[in-house]
Amino acid sequence: MRHTTRHAVAAVTLLVGLFAACAPEQSPPPAAGEQALVNPATEKRIDALLAQMTLEEKVGQLNQYSSPFDMTGPPPSEGAQKTAYDQIRGGLVGSMLNVTGAEATRKAQQLAVENSRLKIPLIFGYDVIHGYKTIFPLPLAEAASWDPAAVERSARIAAIEAAAAGLHWTFGPMVDVSRDARWGRIMEGSGEDPFLGSQMAAARVRGFQGKSLADVDTIAACAKHYAAYGFAEAGRDYNTVDISESTLRNVVLPPFKAAADAGVATFMNSFNEIGGIPATASVHLQREILKGEWGFTGFVVSDWGSIGEMVPHGYAENLAQGAEQAITAGSDMDMESRAYVQHLTELVTSDKVDIKLVDDAVRRVLRVKFALGLFDDPYRYSDAAREQAVTLTPASLAEARDVARRSIVLLKNDGVLPLDKTVRSIAVIGPLADDKDSPLGNWRGQGAANSAVSLLEGVKAAVSPSTRVLYAEGAKLVTGPRDFSSPSVYNTSDRSGFAAAVAAARAADVVLLAIGEDAYQTGEGRSQADLGLKGLQDELLKAVVAANKRVVVVLMNGRPLAIGHVAEAVPALVEAWLLGSQSGHAIADVLFGDYNPSGKLPVSFPRLVGQEPLYYAHKNTGRPGPDSSVTWSHYTDVPNDALYPFGFGLSYTSLACSEPRLSATEIGRDGQLRVSVTVTNAGARAGAEIVQLYVRDLVGSVTRPVKELKGFQRVELAPGQAQEVTFTITASDLAFYTARGQWEAEPGTFTVFVGGNSRDVKEASFTLR
Ligand code: BGC
Repeated sequence: MRHTTRHAVAAVTLLVGLFAACAPEQSPPPAAGEQALVNPATEKRIDALLAQMTLEEKVGQLNQYSSPFDMTGPPPSEGAQKTAYDQIRGGLVGSMLNVTGAEATRKAQQLAVENSRLKIPLIFGYDVIHGYKTIFPLPLAEAASWDPAAVERSARIAAIEAAAAGLHWTFGPMVDVSRDARWGRIMEGSGEDPFLGSQMAAARVRGFQGKSLADVDTIAACAKHYAAYGFAEAGRDYNTVDISESTLRNVVLPPFKAAADAGVATFMNSFNEIGGIPATASVHLQREILKGEWGFTGFVVSDWGSIGEMVPHGYAENLAQGAEQAITAGSDMDMESRAYVQHLTELVTSDKVDIKLVDDAVRRVLRVKFALGLFDDPYRYSDAAREQAVTLTPASLAEARDVARRSIVLLKNDGVLPLDKTVRSIAVIGPLADDKDSPLGNWRGQGAANSAVSLLEGVKAAVSPSTRVLYAEGAKLVTGPRDFSSPSVYNTSDRSGFAAAVAAARAADVVLLAIGEDAYQTGEGRSQADLGLKGLQDELLKAVVAANKRVVVVLMNGRPLAIGHVAEAVPALVEAWLLGSQSGHAIADVLFGDYNPSGKLPVSFPRLVGQEPLYYAHKNTGRPGPDSSVTWSHYTDVPNDALYPFGFGLSYTSLACSEPRLSATEIGRDGQLRVSVTVTNAGARAGAEIVQLYVRDLVGSVTRPVKELKGFQRVELAPGQAQEVTFTITASDLAFYTARGQWEAEPGTFTVFVGGNSRDVKEASFTLR
């Protein structure tokens, strides 16, 4: 009955600004027009250029090559490299990726600008994902800060360094929502939630692109991977995605939309198919939604070879057909498939592809080049002196340390932490304890190998001169090469370091045990079917705990792990992710209480891998239970819920939220509801709480999740202090993609929840008329 009534009531249609009302503090969006790619003067210049271009030159603008060769060495005399050189000279290449450094980019730009007929500059792209040389925490870790302003600063510094090295464009932010910890690329995104993901996406776009792309210290950003790459079946990279339009619109697309609204200049499509159509050939995603509904005026680059991969997908018969499908669907630039450069000219001359599609794609690419100022001075970014001056500065490293400590999440503390700096002796043990490389993580830009501050170094720098610091590796985690493309081989047999580890644990007052994942255990192609600790780490943990009960586990990892047994074995557990260049200092700041942890999980931590995909915003099902029978929606061997839920994180002080107070119990479509809580610090230390607001729409034309994050605010509280926090909810915050295919809020009853994580909340309810 109630359901029918809801359908009968005229829906409240909402267009944009969906997430505005509860947004946390952040810097203002760029002034209108500053980031606009389209302006009449530029469009005129593009018209003039298009009129001069041959078909081959147009296709060339859509062709992107990776640089496998040494730009600063002598020009190659034969083979593929020579072909690439000749094509650049001939104006048949529009962009290159993986050319880095002021000198190399200048040389490559010279090839294009001094030789090609129309002197159109190249645009240089690179994966600047969490820093260029100053490496920041993994994006997943940064999301744990729930601090968009900090994340924006991180992206800003990355852009300053990358731009001075001649780069114009980063393939970031990666905004894929992912709810499956098995997926290796979960480390590159902001976790499981579309709202938090949207805040992070917008913050990173603002950071990379700054106030204006014309500024010489900003770079074009790229929202990737469009779309639903994070929903690969069983968390296996590149695997099939088959999700509903509702999941696509309500869960997957919001961070992309947020990036578009923040003015992101480019999008990258994705390797996966969705419902049988490869994203690269998806008219629905690229033409209808992105360029149609959202009015996106920048360009779409394919993912690496994704046009060619439509052949093994079983969607294109050959590369030529792939090119036809991709350009038709709105994939503007071909990264490394060589499909456009080989086939697009012929496809146009044989009338299989309308020249208008090619013109539109070229126009979009040229817009971004104009916006970057490359037509005014194609060398303006490649500046060796500036590169030297702005890279790895003390200020950037200090910022990296600050963002890193904001990203740390305290998962368990039975009173061991914080440690006293004057402790007599401390043992730092484990395969990651003095690892100067793993904290840099995967997708580390030009971060130098082994350049991170290790935990051991951080601890040594923090403790008093009288403290004895013992160190033992215990066991290696990985044997063999550790790099982007080599598969990881784990040490499962060499226990020769165990005795020293046990001796160190025995001799110390307290133990820090650094375990988790290697730098390259997450990232592209690094999916896992198991979420336990690899190698001999469980054995090492047992041996160390048997020698000394006062063990603090410092977990370093790029994905949620199933660590219930670890939490049970030790009195304290710190989630320290892979935190970048300043990792060891940031962890020490938290361990010794110089920084009171405030990070919160951006993704649920499972009890067992079999719970994946695991996320707090699940649906209720028809049999939510729990009940005494067996026939309700549950596992018979493990609870349904997370070991550590989304939004969870402890503090050294005692923070509590009151019951929520609502300004009304009913609001109209134009009304506002204020939800207030008092947050109290009952402890003896200053601390920060990230107050989270969730909503449940009890009945929908499409069923709604049991909870959805709609806002969060960080409050800093002195000991004994209490502060009121108020969120404002409008109908636009309650909108979703309904059964009518529109963003709209549906009238009815809502529950509102407030708390310090997604599980421990207090609730109230209201009605939307
Ligand atoms: C990845 C992209 C990346 C591109 C260029 C691809 O394999 O999926 O995320 O930007 O390579 O390095």
